[in-house]
Amino acid sequence: MTTTFTGETRALIAGQFISTSSTFAVTNPYTGLEVARVADCGVSEAKTALEASTAAFTWWSKTTAYERAALLRKFFNLILRDEAEIASMIALEMGKPVSEALGEVRYAAGFVDWYAEEAKRVYGQTIPSQFAHKRLFAISQPVGAVYAVTPWNFPAAMVTRKLAPALAAGCTIVLKPAEQSPLTALKLATLWLEAGGHGDVFQVITTNDPVAVSKVFMEDDRIRKITFTGSTEVGKILTKQASDTLKRVSMELGGHAPYLVFADADIEQAVKDVITCKFRNAGQTCVCTNRVYVQRSIVDEFTQKLGEAVAQLKIGDPLESSTQIGPVVDSAGLEKIKRHVQDAVQKGATVVTGGAVQSGLVFQPTVLGNVSGEMLILQEETFGPVAPIIAFDTELEAISAANNTPFGLAAYLWTKDISRAMRVAERLEYGIIGLNDAVPSTVQAPFGGVKQSGYGREGGHWGLEEYLFTKFISFGMEQ
Ligand code: SIN
Repeated sequence: MTTTFTGETRALIAGQFISTSSTFAVTNPYTGLEVARVADCGVSEAKTALEASTAAFTWWSKTTAYERAALLRKFFNLILRDEAEIASMIALEMGKPVSEALGEVRYAAGFVDWYAEEAKRVYGQTIPSQFAHKRLFAISQPVGAVYAVTPWNFPAAMVTRKLAPALAAGCTIVLKPAEQSPLTALKLATLWLEAGGHGDVFQVITTNDPVAVSKVFMEDDRIRKITFTGSTEVGKILTKQASDTLKRVSMELGGHAPYLVFADADIEQAVKDVITCKFRNAGQTCVCTNRVYVQRSIVDEFTQKLGEAVAQLKIGDPLESSTQIGPVVDSAGLEKIKRHVQDAVQKGATVVTGGAVQSGLVFQPTVLGNVSGEMLILQEETFGPVAPIIAFDTELEAISAANNTPFGLAAYLWTKDISRAMRVAERLEYGIIGLNDAVPSTVQAPFGGVKQSGYGREGGHWGLEEYLFTKFISFGMEQ
C-alpha cells in the first residue's frame, strides 16, 4: 500500500512540511500491511516547533476574532470538500468503518464551524466600582502557545475539538497525533495551509518517540497549556510534568461507562441504543458503555434481543461502506479484550454471542451474560466490542454499582419514568449523561469527566474558555 498512499507524510514544523532522516510505519490494522512511512521527529524538531509556536503567538494573538473566524470558516469548507478522502484515511490508518468515519469527519468539521462563530463572542465584563474615578473591566485573552496530544480512536475529531477553540481564542498550537494515526492530522494540516493559515500557528509534530518529544514542550515555560486526550495513566504523567511550570491543563482520560436499563424502558429502543453506544468504533471510544446493568425482570428478554441483534452486525474491511465492525487498532488492544473475555468466562459469565477472534485484529462483537463484580471486565476499560450484562434489582443498587469506579466520564440510562430519569441522572457521578440517548456528544455541549476521567471541558463555550484567561483592568481616571 505504501506506493498508493499519496497524502502528506512529512511533519509540519515552523511553516513548512519537513522530512526527517528516520521514518516510522503506519499500518492498516485490517490487512496488517504498511500504509505509509511518516516523519519521525525528535528533540531537535520539537525545539524548532516550540520556538516557531511561541514566536507566532506574538502576532497571531493580536489578530482580530473576525480574521480568525474567516480563516476557520475556509478551513471548515475544505474539510467538508475532502470529507470522503479523510474518511478513507481514517479507515485505512486505524480501522474505523468508513461510513462511521465519514460521520467523524463531519463531527470534526462541526467543531471548526462552531468555533469560527464563537471566536466573535469572547465577551468581557464591566464591573461597577465604589469609587467615582474608577472603571473596572474583566477581559479574556488567549493563554499562549499550546501543546496538544491526541489519540488514535478519533484521528480527526479529537484534533479539531482542541485545535479549533485554541485557534479561535488566538492561541498557537503544536499537535502531536498518536503514532497509529498521524495521516489524518497531516491531512488537516495541509487543509489549514490551503485555507491560508500559517504553518507556525498550527504545527504537527509526528513522532515514534512521544516521551522525548513531549518533554521538550512540557519543560518549557513558554508553553502555557497542555491539552491531552488518552489514557488516565499518561494523563497523570503529563499533569505531574505540567506542574513544574504551572501550565493550564485539560485532561480527557479513560472511562468505564455504565448503561442502566430499567424495567420500564422501551426494550427494542434500548437494545438499539446499547448497540450504538457499545459497538461504534468496535467499542474503542472513551464514552462507549463498558457495563450494561439491566433490571432483573427484563434481563432475560433484553439479553436475548441484544444477542440476536449483535450477531447481525456486519464484520469486515473498514473500507467497505457496509462494514459495521472492523479491527481493533493493534495487538495490545486485542490481547486486552481476549483477557477480559477469558477471565469473565472462567469466572462464570456466559457467551451469548461472539466471544472469539474472527481473524487478524478483528474481535467478534460479543455479548456476555451473568457477569459479576469480581470480573476484570467490570474493573478495567475494555476498549473493545464486548457488552457485559449484569442484573440489578433496585434503583439504588444500580446507582451504587454504576458509581463504584474511579472513573467518571459518561454514563447512560434508559427509563420512561421522568422522575427516575432526573433522580438517577443527578446521582450518577459522571461528567456526561446519556438519558435515553446513546450518543450525547455534540460540538456545542461540554464533553469531559470527573474523578480519574480528568478535568477541563471540550465543546461549546466551555471548550473555548480552556484557552482563555481572565484579565482584570482597574482604570483610575482623571476627574
Ligand atoms: C472519545 O472517545 O474520547 C470521544 C468520543 C466522542 O466524542 O463521542
